Amino acid sequence: MYNEIDLDKIDIVTEPPTEEPARQYYFMAKCREWVRNFQKQKGCPPKACVVNFGCQMNAKDSEKLTGILKEAGYQWGEEQEADFVIYNTCTVRDNVNQRIYGRLGVLHGCKRRNPRLKIALCGCMMQENAVIEKIKKSYGFVDLIFGTHNIFKFSELLYTCLISDRMIIDIWKDTDKIVEDLPVERKYPFKSGINIMFGCNNFCSYCIVPYVRGRERSRESEDILREAKRLAAEGVKEIMLLGQNVNSYGKNLEHPISFAQLLQEVEKIEGIERIRFMTSHPKDLSDELIQVMKQSKKICRHLHLPLQSGSTKILKAMNRRYTKEQYLALADKIRSEIPDIAITTDIIVGFPGETSEDLEETIDVVKKVQFDNAFTFLYSKRTGTPAASMENQVPEEVVKPGFDRLLHVVQETAKHRAGLLAGQYARVLVEEVNEHDSHLMTGRMSNNMLVHFPGGEELLGQFVTVYLKECRGFYYIGERMA
Ligand code: SAH
Ligand code: SF4
Ligand code: F3S
Repeated sequence: MYNEIDLDKIDIVTEPPTEEPARQYYFMAKCREWVRNFQKQKGCPPKACVVNFGCQMNAKDSEKLTGILKEAGYQWGEEQEADFVIYNTCTVRDNVNQRIYGRLGVLHGCKRRNPRLKIALCGCMMQENAVIEKIKKSYGFVDLIFGTHNIFKFSELLYTCLISDRMIIDIWKDTDKIVEDLPVERKYPFKSGINIMFGCNNFCSYCIVPYVRGRERSRESEDILREAKRLAAEGVKEIMLLGQNVNSYGKNLEHPISFAQLLQEVEKIEGIERIRFMTSHPKDLSDELIQVMKQSKKICRHLHLPLQSGSTKILKAMNRRYTKEQYLALADKIRSEIPDIAITTDIIVGFPGETSEDLEETIDVVKKVQFDNAFTFLYSKRTGTPAASMENQVPEEVVKPGFDRLLHVVQETAKHRAGLLAGQYARVLVEEVNEHDSHLMTGRMSNNMLVHFPGGEELLGQFVTVYLKECRGFYYIGERMA
């Protein structure tokens, strides 16, 4: 267990150990020594800033980076005042990449003002050769680059970067390695994500994730349960099990176990009161899982079930391996077994060859399933994916009107679904002080919807019952029950 390690007792004069995670503890101790010297010279400890651009899995990785920086002794600062800035990048759509390049330009200005600033880039975008070439050519001020497969080596890479003036680049093509027992700094004391698997084997034809995250690897269930128990002991009440396709969890383990079985084990852990998971692929969602969810007292009434398209023709070209009818039947089954469940989804508009008839099919599914929420994306061409070399690409100006129409239907449907809860009582986990009005607290319902209600900070991390007074589209204004 990491919390039993005393970094100050590690011998950092001798050679580093070769086995993991001992090697990383050694480099964490080296970084700590470096930080103490910095503090002696400058009179204050260095500041670090971790910026996350990606999905929940990236957010979890960012917590690992933060954990190591904290262990080393870094304090927290804004990007403009930091001595170490790391961008944990995403490359799922091109607009994310462009945003990252834009912010790097701003960071260059910070480095001119503070030459001792070290700039690091990691995450999915760094797994692409073309990106590395572009950074080497046009962003020579970057100090450290690593990818998704060797993030466990962050302590070692950080130390190497701190004592070097060169640009350090360490990218692995793939890995089957899973290193346990590294420190993590959680954003919330009362809720946490847990990785249950890494990578993806589905190769949806538009998607870059399998190329940048590598092959699917499940963590041993004992390791997951050990982590969940430790989190419960630390006061965590809600956990989210994370993977690109949680429904295929455990299939390739030496002792195979299904996702539904894993959920049942997590359910037994005392102290964990809520369980969430992300993301489910419709093709692998089993009846066993529906039954386990139905009977569970802890699994939240929310299922994120990406549709991507409602046209069977497009779904086939996307390599999603289900038809429109199969998706509808699945959604029906889930709604009839678990009537109070919220179903949310992801939809891509403008996939190569998509016609207005195809989009009508998608809109038809939205109307039939009545999604509680949907994230809609314009198709983005990702180099190296099969869809990128399809000939029938659709120009953005052709796609836009259909996209807006879909968005309108999605919003109307979501508003209607949300409105159905008015006048009910909901048990919520209080997560935050409202950003705009500090007299209001924000709580999350089991179905993932937010409610804002008058209350004080002492409620943070508590479960309370709230009367759902007024629906404001996607969220509620409520009142706490005494
Ligand atoms: N593993 C998850 C989601 C991964 S990415 C799943 O299978 O659902 C999150 C979402 O980004 C996807 O659901 C998809 O809707 C969207 N997405 C992925 N690649 C995209 C692309 N090339 N263009 C536009 N949206 C994309
Ligand atoms: Fe991408 Fe498909 Fe894997 Fe999701 S399941 S990460 S969309 S390839
Ligand atoms: Fe982006 Fe990587 Fe997640 S590409 S969506 S951060 S897996």
